[in-house]
Amino acid sequence: DSPRTPLMVGNWKLNLDHLQAIDLVQKLAWTLKDAEHDYDLTEVVVAPTFTSLRSVQTLVDGDKLPIKYASQDVSSHASGAYTGEVSAEQLAKLGVSFAIIGHSERREYHNETDELVNAKILAALGQGITPILCVGEPLEVRQASEHVAYTLAQLDGALAGLSPEQVGGIVVAYEPVWAIGTGEVATPDDAQEMAQAIRARVAETVDADVAAGLRILYGGSVKADNVKEIMAGADVDGALVGGASLKVDQFAPIAGFR
Ligand code: G3P
Repeated sequence: DSPRTPLMVGNWKLNLDHLQAIDLVQKLAWTLKDAEHDYDLTEVVVAPTFTSLRSVQTLVDGDKLPIKYASQDVSSHASGAYTGEVSAEQLAKLGVSFAIIGHSERREYHNETDELVNAKILAALGQGITPILCVGEPLEVRQASEHVAYTLAQLDGALAGLSPEQVGGIVVAYEPVWAIGTGEVATPDDAQEMAQAIRARVAETVDADVAAGLRILYGGSVKADNVKEIMAGADVDGALVGGASLKVDQFAPIAGFR
């Protein structure tokens, strides 16, 4: 049995306004309540857009919901003349407990480098926010069978200079770019292969105990009907879910798949 509490994260990306966001959180909470979901056995997190976080906070606090919420990004800066940025401190004040960092869409469309991802991780950790570090290879790298080296290089870059204690405070999500939003899901063996490689790398470069406790998620076309096989991998501790997290009838069974 794994010592790691499974974690299911819904990444809503650029979808839903704040009213739709609270509607979805409410329905998710009701559905999981009806299913007698045990949040101690599987943590459930949603990642709305920045503009919805305040509304989600009000709902979660008001109704004492056990659902946690994440931001989809965070600034590497603490404050100052950085137009358009949102700081970790501001997010922490809104009760945000996780921040997705280095998603492939940020790397691709906003030129985020490993160095910037590293700085964002430090900013989040500094405010008690758990980074969900995303790594994963594009299709051509997979086709060249260089996916493990590529992904581990991203991992090394993101974790550069972090203490073992700091690495112990993060979550890693393996999202092969070719499996995101494509309906093309990595096989359970692909997911397990990379999760195992990530854990081994952290054991080697950081600390064995930290590696043993590190939660590693898989992301890429996870749906209610494939979550169980993905989760079967011994090193896969949860899922980062895009499209399917926008539908309660998909995400509730993912969250409570056992
Ligand atoms: O962060 C989650 C993600 O990129 C996967 O998206 O739509 O393939 O589940 P999707």
